Amino acid sequence: MTQIKVWGKTAPQDLVDFSQTSLLVSLGSIAFNPVFWNIIARQEYHNKVLTKVFGGNSRYGCYFLAVVIFSIGIIRDYFYEQALRDQPALDVLLDPTVKYLAGGFFLVGNVLVITSMYALGVTGTYLGDYFGILMDHRVTSFPFNVTDSPMYTGSTLSFLGTALWFGKPAGLFISAFVYIMYQIALTFEDPFTAEIYAKRERERAKKRG
Ligand SMILES: *[C@@H]1O[C@H](CO)[C@@H](O)[C@H](O)[C@H]1NC(C)=O
Repeated sequence: MTQIKVWGKTAPQDLVDFSQTSLLVSLGSIAFNPVFWNIIARQEYHNKVLTKVFGGNSRYGCYFLAVVIFSIGIIRDYFYEQALRDQPALDVLLDPTVKYLAGGFFLVGNVLVITSMYALGVTGTYLGDYFGILMDHRVTSFPFNVTDSPMYTGSTLSFLGTALWFGKPAGLFISAFVYIMYQIALTFEDPFTAEIYAKRERERAKKRG
């Protein structure tokens, strides 16, 4: 049975139960995932370990990484739901209108994630650039005309939608943490991929020259 806190009668520090191990596990897995794929992708760029493991086939290496990243995403989502179970709800968030908002965020979030995967393909979504599998052109069609990183925006909205659906302030806290982790990931990923494509342009210019 979930405890329900009453807005105005609950101290702010009691809205999130930080003593729950499940909360730490959830935050840990949210932080772990982008760190993990950035480390793997960069070592791939420099040493081609996965490509070598797959007999020189960079595509297979990238597909393998895609499966791993997808799987740790499912584990992260599982830990998130477990963490929310152990947290108190807040009465005002249990209002039916909040459920509509929650459903909207979740739907929009999933549309952004699914359409960006569709636009980029498997290798485009799962760090193919680091394997030397580059896109021909920068994708600017939907959903990339709405947000620069629809995968991250969509994922964050799904976390937020889930938090609101269950009326859990802890979920809002975790969603904010997701947002921050993705912003940090982007400060590593954007310049690195920009340089990979800039390098290709320099090489093409050299060939033409
Ligand atoms: C993005 O592209 C879609 C489909 O082409 C279009 O319907 C939508 O209006 C565009 N959005 C923006 C903000 O430009």
